[in-house]
Amino acid sequence: MRSPEELIAFAQEARKRSYAPYSNFTVGAALETESGEVISGGNVENASYGVGTCAERSAVVRAVAEGHRVFRKIAIAGPEGTPCAPCGACRQFIAEFAPALAVYYTAPGGFVSTTLTDLLPASFGPHSLEEAKRH
Ligand code: THU
Repeated sequence: MRSPEELIAFAQEARKRSYAPYSNFTVGAALETESGEVISGGNVENASYGVGTCAERSAVVRAVAEGHRVFRKIAIAGPEGTPCAPCGACRQFIAEFAPALAVYYTAPGGFVSTTLTDLLPASFGPHSLEEAKRH
């Protein structure tokens, strides 16, 4: 089990490899898997702006591609001076696998410790589709 600070350090390393030439807003994310591995990713922008991907989704896609689907926590590191809470699309994307995930994101003076349950209440997920099938 990594501490939030340790996981944030991984996110900061991933942030260095972010590709954000258009916004210059570089973000890194690091997921801790159930087996204790850390899988990270950075935001990857594109000349066709809307096609870019956030750091959190990069990390989740990479983790799933490597065979991980159960996660313990995620750390997100963004630029100094602003809280880097995950965007709405990333909250939904993460919730598919870990609706109650522990979330740590950098903010002025340190980091915020929260959960995906708090960030995305009343979420729509695989359970919603299953419930509909039963009616
Ligand atoms: N971004 C992330 O990677 N994660 C977040 O939590 C917020 C925003 C990226 C998307 C885009 O490449 C840049 O930051 C500016 O929005």
